[in-house]
Amino acid sequence: MLNNKDQTLVEYVSIIAIISTVIIGMLFYGWKEVWMKTKNKERTLAIVKPDGMVYLDEIIEAIYNEGFTIKDFYLKYLDKEILKEHYAHLIDKPFFPELVDYMTSDKVAILLLEGDNIVERFRKLIGPTDSKIAESETLRGKYGTDKSINAIHGSGSREEAVIEIERFFKDRRN
Ligand code: PPS
Repeated sequence: MLNNKDQTLVEYVSIIAIISTVIIGMLFYGWKEVWMKTKNKERTLAIVKPDGMVYLDEIIEAIYNEGFTIKDFYLKYLDKEILKEHYAHLIDKPFFPELVDYMTSDKVAILLLEGDNIVERFRKLIGPTDSKIAESETLRGKYGTDKSINAIHGSGSREEAVIEIERFFKDRRN
């Protein structure tokens, strides 16, 4: 049995442990991520690619139908510099020059999305990279052509989402 003094000490230590965990989490992941986690919310990045832009209305409707929120959104002509950063893991692939030509061929829509477990659920909604094998109810199945021309991008993991959101939304308040 703990006496009153010991009990108070245990309470203090527990409170300090909780506060330290929150502070360390905020320093490590960023305050926004920790705050979102406490609300059980998650964010992801979507890019409606040049070929997907004619279906932007339908894509936005599909996003709302899933119960996701569009927190921020802008249209932009991407340049080679940001694509070299965004697709850094693909720079040595033979298709990289074509990928840059395609992604710079017209305006794209860049969306910051929020929702429960959204990274995984949004990837499910868009379907696999190759539109040819994507199920017909997925966005890539409906609006894309193949693995190069596939209408829409979605972050591949929570870690990627954090990096991609920072890349495309760092100069905006959201
Ligand atoms: S990979 O190969 O595992 O890195 O594939 P993935 O991570 O799914 O995404 C590759 C992105 O590059 C685009 N792209 C191509 N992929 C494969 N083959 C060819 N020829 C190709 N051309 C372009 C593909 O659409 C993926 O883009 P995002 O924006 O990530 O969907």
